[in-house]
Amino acid sequence: MKDLILITGASSGIGYHLAVQLAEKKIDLILTARNEDALNRLRNSLIEKYKVTVHVLISDLSQPGSAVTLFNDIREKNLTVTKVINNAGIGLYGNVIDLPLESQLAMIELNVSSVVALTKLFAGEMVKRGSGTIMNVASLLSFLPFPYYSVYSATKTFVLAFSETMAAELEGTGVNIVTLCPGPVDTNFTTDSMLSTNAYKANRPVSPEFVASEGVKLLLKGSGKKIVGFNNWFISNLPRITPDRLMIRIKKHLSSQRAS
Ligand SMILES: NC(=O)c1ccc[n+]([C@@H]2O[C@H](COP(=O)([O-])OP(=O)(O)OC[C@H]3O[C@@H](n4cnc5c(N)ncnc54)[C@H](OP(=O)(O)O)[C@@H]3O)[C@@H](O)[C@H]2O)c1
Repeated sequence: MKDLILITGASSGIGYHLAVQLAEKKIDLILTARNEDALNRLRNSLIEKYKVTVHVLISDLSQPGSAVTLFNDIREKNLTVTKVINNAGIGLYGNVIDLPLESQLAMIELNVSSVVALTKLFAGEMVKRGSGTIMNVASLLSFLPFPYYSVYSATKTFVLAFSETMAAELEGTGVNIVTLCPGPVDTNFTTDSMLSTNAYKANRPVSPEFVASEGVKLLLKGSGKKIVGFNNWFISNLPRITPDRLMIRIKKHLSSQRAS
């Protein structure tokens, strides 16, 4: 069956470059996000350059029920999705007490509930066909929950745990669930206040093109999880070998604004 890949959060950053790199391989796509103009521009350029079929569906996945509506819209169009990339996500940065609760809950809806709904619904169809892959985008912070990214870190820890357990449940069905875990990436996600912390000084963001290329390899040929970059792999293991009290001091230092 010819591949048709759904990418959430395709209007910018990692999702945009995943779309470009998959289209380069002549793979047909369904792109979704909220920014209709950006998605239409991307669709037109991919069709022109790579002669692929590209569908655009607008969805705000922070709205309860929107993931189910997206799934139903795709079914109504009689499109058979062979692979899904759950990439859309935001990372609210700040003190838990000060950030607006409404925004924190909307982030959980986007980063967690929509990922659960889309993974469950598409995996169900894929199991019936006996083939398919779902790649969920987690984070380095799935392993290293980070101050001022508290709720965000927890959403990404959820994504990794959910993806790994789903992968085990689906073993032998022909359906593969894989997890991409990037460290810092140079996208709209990264704000100036984050960039001026010791953490970002020690671990500079990499390009979204590079992360997307690792994602494409994982999606098309990989299994399990991929922590992007050796330094991030190393950092992801720190909490296992470091006493909790020392880890808290390290996190305090890394999350502080750097001196100059
Ligand atoms: N950048 C990093 O340092 C980093 C590190 C680790 C993991 N990640 C993860 O990588 C993924 C992609 O992020 P990115 O770095 O590429 O950031 P980005 O450039 O800000 O891209 C985020 C994408 O998600 C979409 N999105 C945001 N809110 C949405 C909503 N309510 N409904 C539907 N789509 C929504 C955005 O499109 P619209 O605004 O058009 O809706 C955009 O296409 C996220 O899951 C993020 O957590 C990023």
